[in-house]
Amino acid sequence: MAPDTRHPDKLDRAVIFLGPPGAGKGTQAKELARKYGVPHLSTGDMLREHVTKGTPLGVKAKPIMERGELVPDSLVLQMVRERIERPDCSHGFVFDGFPRTVAQAKYLGELLKQHGYKRPFVIHLAIDPSVLLPRLTGRRTCKMGGEIYNIYERPPKVAGRCDADGGELVQRPDDREEVIGPRLRAYEKQTAPLVAYYGRLGLLHSIDASKSVEEVGRQVLQSVQSVRGAR
Ligand code: AP5
Repeated sequence: MAPDTRHPDKLDRAVIFLGPPGAGKGTQAKELARKYGVPHLSTGDMLREHVTKGTPLGVKAKPIMERGELVPDSLVLQMVRERIERPDCSHGFVFDGFPRTVAQAKYLGELLKQHGYKRPFVIHLAIDPSVLLPRLTGRRTCKMGGEIYNIYERPPKVAGRCDADGGELVQRPDDREEVIGPRLRAYEKQTAPLVAYYGRLGLLHSIDASKSVEEVGRQVLQSVQSVRGAR
């Protein structure tokens, strides 16, 4: 039986990963959520699921995501609210890709207050944009379990197959070079202001995301442990 490597303490709050496309939000958020045994909430994954299932939300979101633009708050906020009101979020959760605008951050602040959560812990994955292109064009994701690989930096043992469950590895449609530019511009314009926003609230912890996945993970865990229970 695989050893239980979950962290013995409770997370007890929302953790938010902030950073540009390819900074490593999904990679780190998944691992932190696994360690603390709490849900990993990726708004990108939720939206992609709606697109795959062809729900009314998915039909509206699909062309917007294909252009590398942000899906309007009116569609995203309700989806997030419904998700964090489920009982599995009662001991905390890890956001990846939300909030992405100041309006989303304000909405989330109110929602957390209403539900009696502590103030969120925001991890900013700081990185020079010049290293992001190979991270994004080389990314492959397991169709079954969602494990994230990179054909240049973190290849699977068998090409095209997930190490964990043998699932097929696929490339996201928005990881094509012509969509990456608009995604990076949308980040700079609409999401980067959140760094200053959370900085002013004293909730921001910046980490150098250019280091290895393991080193970034160590720093993430250290900073979460350093403030847990402090507020
Ligand atoms: P989303 O799915 O959230 O994508 P994103 O923000 O563009 O971020 P990515 O998933 O591309 O990157 P990541 O930082 O998670 O990196 P990862 O860990 O995978 O959003 C997609 C779209 O959905 C948006 O464009 C928008 O349309 C819509 N959307 C989603 N949320 C929304 C919201 N709240 N509001 C409105 N619209 C929304 O890593 C990337 C690669 O790098 C991998 O190959 C990985 O193996 C590798 N890697 C990771 N860390 C390292 C490292 N330290 N060293 C070397 N390689 C690394």
